[in-house]
Amino acid sequence: MASTRTIKLVSETQTYKIRQEVLRPGKPINECIFRGDKDEDTFHLGLYESDELIGVASFMKICNPLFSHNTQYQLRGMAILPGYQGKGDGSALLKHGELVLKSNNADTNLLLWFNAREHATAFYEKHGYITIGEKFDIPGVCPHIVMYKRL
Ligand SMILES: CC(C)(COP(=O)(O)OP(=O)(O)OC[C@H]1O[C@@H](n2cnc3c(N)ncnc32)[C@H](O)[C@@H]1OP(=O)(O)O)[C@@H](O)C(=O)NCCC(=O)NCCS
Repeated sequence: MASTRTIKLVSETQTYKIRQEVLRPGKPINECIFRGDKDEDTFHLGLYESDELIGVASFMKICNPLFSHNTQYQLRGMAILPGYQGKGDGSALLKHGELVLKSNNADTNLLLWFNAREHATAFYEKHGYITIGEKFDIPGVCPHIVMYKRL
């Protein structure tokens, strides 16, 4: 990651523009507002190049019945602007989120899971995440599969 990059906590509203451009192109902004965005335990990270927000990721304390871990977080809205993809920024954002989760949660039985876009599974596998279950469609988006890692 270039030295002008910084990662900070951002508000849910700051994530909407990048979610829309990267994850919901052509869709209205209300489709970029996720349930859980405002929950007390949710936090949103933004990755900046100088003053420009170029990537976002949201972490929500949501349990998935597939898992029995005491503390579970779901990663949502992981997105890097197209012009910046493939330069290590997504990796930096994901690793930063893992560190925040570990430092905020004393529980050693801590899990991060998400519904991964099928085309992005290789990215997450590089970070030690594994798939579970069958692929499924999220209507209007694309095929997804659950991935997880114990942090
Ligand atoms: C997926 C995404 C977040 C990854 O961020 P990024 O900054 O592009 O990824 P990085 O540069 O940190 O990539 C790290 C590694 O993963 C690989 N990688 C990145 N995106 C990949 C993809 N879609 N498929 C396969 N491998 C991928 C890179 O080649 C790199 O491998 P290397 O370390 O061997 O060179 C980003 O590309 C993105 O926003 N994509 C569009 C939206 C999306 O699919 N979001 C995920 C929703 S589940």
